[in-house]
Amino acid sequence: MFSVKQLVESGCLTSVPPKYVFKNTESDDCMVTELEAIPTIDFSLLTSGNPDERSEVINELRNACQEWGFFMVINHGVPETLRKEMIRATKDFFDLAGEEKQQYTGKKLFDPIRCGTSFNPKVDKVLLWRDYLKAHVHPHFSAPNKPSGFGKVLKEYCKRTREMASELLKGISESLGLEESYINEKMAVESADSHQLLVANMYPPCPQPELSMGLPPHSDHGLLTILMQNELAGLQVMHNAKWVPINPLPNSFLVNTGDHMEILTNGKYKSVVHRAVVNDKATRISIGTAHGPPLDTIVSPAAELVTEFVGQFSPAYRGIKYKEYLELQQSKSLNGKSCL
Ligand code: SIN
Ligand code: FE2
Repeated sequence: MFSVKQLVESGCLTSVPPKYVFKNTESDDCMVTELEAIPTIDFSLLTSGNPDERSEVINELRNACQEWGFFMVINHGVPETLRKEMIRATKDFFDLAGEEKQQYTGKKLFDPIRCGTSFNPKVDKVLLWRDYLKAHVHPHFSAPNKPSGFGKVLKEYCKRTREMASELLKGISESLGLEESYINEKMAVESADSHQLLVANMYPPCPQPELSMGLPPHSDHGLLTILMQNELAGLQVMHNAKWVPINPLPNSFLVNTGDHMEILTNGKYKSVVHRAVVNDKATRISIGTAHGPPLDTIVSPAAELVTEFVGQFSPAYRGIKYKEYLELQQSKSLNGKSCL
């Protein structure tokens, strides 16, 4: 497989090759100047059994979903050792020799495991400074057979993030004035068929980081994405028409609302546009899990939210099968919210 990692390791790159030069189409007004306090959710208060604490966190979830579509989760109970093992195993996977990853390259969207570079090099006009590994981990669990032990760590990690997602979705349902089980039931999130995709990103050091892009502005498919990273920053979130750089607390998770949350809530909770910039110092790794309904679910606005928020009983989004949405997104270059 051809990869950015290989490109970087093949010699002393002093400039970005032309096909990786990313032209920013935004005005400078969007540029980031200062750090902003991002919403933080104390997960332990959601599950403590104390109703006052829970209702406070639900208010915070409402604000985070309405104002940002993005929040940081602390006190989540996922062991730090598991997170570290995940980062280590992911790094070891990317470090495998090309031949060992060969079986996963050139694969299609619904093949269990695939690795590659950029987003969709067949149509990407500019290549991204990013290599990736993607695995469908639910309902059928798939993991690369190397490095040894990756499968075990990955399985546990995906189980823990699935549990976190359904707990957060309970709180988010309540924050919308719905029954706590509403989203989980309607989207069959806790069912044996719900869909979870693991996406691990590697961004090698880039000689001219301001000229290249790890992931261009985009929104994610699914209801929620849960993300963690090694110690390097790079994620930026669009908030009030500005890019906000995200510097998560150690041992925290970053969560963002996806396009299917936007559709389901009829636009009350919009998916957030975000991007990953690169740096010239060290390799950044981020690991995301996208949580969605079973692939054959047609996601359309919840009737309860259509009447409440649009007033004229007309849903703002048409229903689309989750699987078809994924195919649509994968058929193009990653570009803002172009699939919604
Ligand atoms: C993503 O958008 O899926 C990953 C962003 C990141 O690398 O932080
Ligand atoms: Fe994303």
